[in-house]
Amino acid sequence: MLWTAVLSTCFACAMPASAQQASPAPRNEEFDARQLFATTCGWCHSDGGRAAGKGPQLMNTARDDDYLRDRIRHGKSGAMPAFGETFSDAQIDEIIKYIRQLKPHEG
Ligand code: HEC
Repeated sequence: MLWTAVLSTCFACAMPASAQQASPAPRNEEFDARQLFATTCGWCHSDGGRAAGKGPQLMNTARDDDYLRDRIRHGKSGAMPAFGETFSDAQIDEIIKYIRQLKPHEG
């Protein structure tokens, strides 16, 4: 009896609290790399990564995925912040996909 009461109480109070505090990092399929890039990376990698800003142009980069992943995770001292704590590996992969599909604006 007591055991059931404790269990259901915990369930009732723990679930909504954690649901309400859901972190802004959504599940991976909802992860919007374009939006994220615009807000987090865009002030250094201009025009969504299509043009150089404080950082280099990323569209059509000749670097391989490992290099991009490493740069995003670890940044570069004095040049680019590290994002390995901010994004999961899966999210970084989404960002790399985003970079790979960049095209010049039409028109
Ligand atoms: C404070 C400015 C700044 C921000 C913010 C920034 N970067 Fe960078 N980024 C740079 C600079 C500067 C370099 C060049 C570093 C070097 O010399 O290798 C760079 C390099 C890169 C590279 C390697 C490109 C290449 O060809 O060498 C990638 C990929 C990259 N950034 C992705 C990102 C992503 C993704 C974000 C956002 C999550 C981001 N950057 C945010 C400044 C920034």
